[in-house]
Amino acid sequence: MTTHGSDPAEPLYAREVTTQQPPSADADVGLEHRVDYDRGVLLEVDAPADPYLLLQRWLSDAEEAGEAEFNSMALATADATGRPSVRNVLLRGLDEGGRLEFFTNQDSRKGIELAVNDRVALLFSWLGIRRQVRVEGVAARLSDALSDAYFASRPRESRIGAWASEQSSVLADRAELDARVVEMTDRFVGAEVPRPPNWGGYGVTPDVFEFWQGRPSRLHDRLRYRRDSAVDRWVRDRLAP
Ligand SMILES: Cc1cc2nc3c(=O)[nH]c(=O)nc-3n(C[C@H](O)[C@H](O)[C@H](O)COP(=O)(O)O)c2cc1C
Repeated sequence: MTTHGSDPAEPLYAREVTTQQPPSADADVGLEHRVDYDRGVLLEVDAPADPYLLLQRWLSDAEEAGEAEFNSMALATADATGRPSVRNVLLRGLDEGGRLEFFTNQDSRKGIELAVNDRVALLFSWLGIRRQVRVEGVAARLSDALSDAYFASRPRESRIGAWASEQSSVLADRAELDARVVEMTDRFVGAEVPRPPNWGGYGVTPDVFEFWQGRPSRLHDRLRYRRDSAVDRWVRDRLAP
C-alpha cells in the first residue's frame, strides 16, 4: 500500500494533495483489500426449482449469520429518459402471488420514476456470507388495504414522520423538518395517525433471479432463474463468474 501526505497519522480529510495526479482512491482506504471467498457453495443439486424457496432460505441464513439489515435491498429504478437511480429499501413481505413488497412515499423520486417506468432491479447484499441475489421485475402499487395494514403496524413516531417528510423534496435545513414533525405531532394529538394518501407499498413481480455465492479464486457460483411464461415455469442456468 502506498501513502500520500507526509504524516501518516494525520487524518485523511486534513491532508493536502501536492501532486498533479489525483491520489488513487485505493491508496489510503485499503481498496486493494482481497478476501478469498470460502463460505459455501451453490450447486444445482441443492438449489430448489422454485427461486422463492431459495430466496427465503438465503434470507433466513443472512438473519442467522447476523447480517446487518438482512432484509434490505437496493432498489434500482430509471426515469423516462433511462437515467438510473438506486437506494436501499426494506423487504417487508414476500406474498403468495410471488411479489417482493416494500413501502415508501409514492411521491418520492422512486415513486415518480415508478409511475413512468415500472421496470426495476433489486439487489440483496450479504457480504459477510459472500452472497448476493439480483432480481429483475415489474413493480405495481399494493392495494390500499395492504398499505393501510402495514402503516398501522408502524410505531407512532414513524407514522408521524411519514406525514412530516415530503420524501425527496429539498429542505431549507434540518430545523424545517423538525418543525414539521412538531406540527404533525400536534395535529394528531389524541388521535390515530392515518396513512398519508401518498404513502404506500409496491410489490415487485420478478421475472429473473440470480443467486451468487462467492467461491475461492473468483470462481464463484451463479445460478440464474428466468420465468418462461410460455411454459409457466422457471428455467435455471449456471452463469460464468
Ligand atoms: C437499510 C436502509 C433501508 C431503507 N428502507 C427504506 C424503506 O423501506 N422505504 C423508504 O422509503 N426508504 C428507505 N430507506 C431510505 C432510502 O434509501 C431513500 O433514502 C429514500 O427512500 C428516498 O429515496 P428516493 O429519493 O430515491 O425516492 C432505507 C435506507 C436504508 C439505508
